[in-house]
Amino acid sequence: MSALVPLRTLSRQSLFGTGDVFVLFGELFGRGYANGLVAQARAAGMTIVGATVGRREADGSLRPLNDEELAAAEANLGGRVINVPLMAGFDNDTPGDGGPTPTELAAAMTIKTWQTDKLDWARVDACRAAGVARFKAGAAEFARQLEALIPPGANVFFAHTMAGGLVKAKVFLAIANRIYKGRGERFMSSRALMDSDLGKLNLMNFEEVTGNSFAYLLEATAALRARIERDGGQARYTAYGYHGTEILIDGQYQWQTYTNYTQGYAKKRLEDVASAAWERGVKATVFNCPEIRTNSSDVFIGIELSLFPLLNAFRREGCADWGEAQWAACRDLLTDPTALEGILARLDAYNTSATMRHFRDFDAWPMDNTPELAELMISTAEEITAQHKSRQALISDLLSTHVIEATGPLIFNEAANPEGPVLWLGHDAVARKLASLHAG
Ligand SMILES: NC(=O)c1ccc[n+]([C@@H]2O[C@H](COP(=O)([O-])OP(=O)(O)OC[C@H]3O[C@@H](n4cnc5c(N)ncnc54)[C@H](O)[C@@H]3O)[C@@H](O)[C@H]2O)c1
Repeated sequence: MSALVPLRTLSRQSLFGTGDVFVLFGELFGRGYANGLVAQARAAGMTIVGATVGRREADGSLRPLNDEELAAAEANLGGRVINVPLMAGFDNDTPGDGGPTPTELAAAMTIKTWQTDKLDWARVDACRAAGVARFKAGAAEFARQLEALIPPGANVFFAHTMAGGLVKAKVFLAIANRIYKGRGERFMSSRALMDSDLGKLNLMNFEEVTGNSFAYLLEATAALRARIERDGGQARYTAYGYHGTEILIDGQYQWQTYTNYTQGYAKKRLEDVASAAWERGVKATVFNCPEIRTNSSDVFIGIELSLFPLLNAFRREGCADWGEAQWAACRDLLTDPTALEGILARLDAYNTSATMRHFRDFDAWPMDNTPELAELMISTAEEITAQHKSRQALISDLLSTHVIEATGPLIFNEAANPEGPVLWLGHDAVARKLASLHAG
């Protein structure tokens, strides 16, 4: 279990520059966190290399990108994509015997029976072994092709961005909707899921996608890392974690978290992977990042509520005119521009309520949801969303772009000479970085 180690000193870096190589291990989506790092690598003049999860055929088989998809991915990344499918997890794998995949096993469950339905764990284990072997072989091939792209003496920045692994069985999608979005009659307990075989299967798949894939990257690039170092270069590894965030509550930076974050167990595994690598002398750091809205986090209704107090951090950390311009831009997104102060006051009351304080228990993270939490969080989120002119242009979307912009240089610079294997980027660091970028 990691202790909370917030990044308080904003560093500069002089390690990475022209001729060095930035490797994105995961795909780049328009709104994703990785955009911040890619922008830094580009600005530093590094060669950018990316990866793909591949695409699934109708029969479930995994294939590389076709020419059109590859061209689009490379244009989006601004660099070359190594076209080896790197889909982590084992939800659609089999040991090649024609038997069912874990997703197919789960498909036999129904919304009425899933809490007592049992899985064939020997079968799941065999599928997991097959999925891991497939991913490791892909990662080895990725490393082999990458080697040719790294000039002697170059420094290499490996950025891991993979997370996910929801088993896409119909029954689970219905349950996930109720766990993350349900309140009142539609509330569903995350503990009930954790205690079921279906929940345990999901946790295993999260562990592979979100946690172990980082270990497999470190393993697949061990020989390459040795070569890089022999040639006089250095290698750094980063991964995006989530383990709550310090935000301004009641005038002070305080740790809080989105609940229920089922993937939290896998994020702790990710931290353990980095810590173990660090012990072996590898500079690998997990950066636990603030809650933002992306393709991946949209499922978690209410996750965006912790973003709003960033506006207060802009003032606290000296974002000056630029910060005030963000306040104005946020006001503009509301039907009543004068409502912003009221929203922030409401969120302060929300965060200091007994219901929310109960979840600010770092040692107990990730905690299960409760009906009271779901009621309060989801109703608050829905009511604040309804105060916007358009659901397509939310304050949380605007603030997310600023968080991405700030975490890029925070991570890029710190990774050159990292303080430790697990660091938290709170709203203080984000706002101070934005102040230095825009108000300095
Ligand atoms: N959005 C947030 O609030 C938040 C907060 C803290 C940390 N993070 C982390 O940031 C990282 C990037 O996420 P994001 O929110 O920017 O969203 P994103 O959707 O842009 O990125 C998710 C990444 O995971 C990859 N991925 C998904 N399933 C995969 C699989 N089965 N195998 C391999 N790769 C897979 C995708 O290709 C993509 O690169 C993740 O590690 C995420 O947990 C996100």
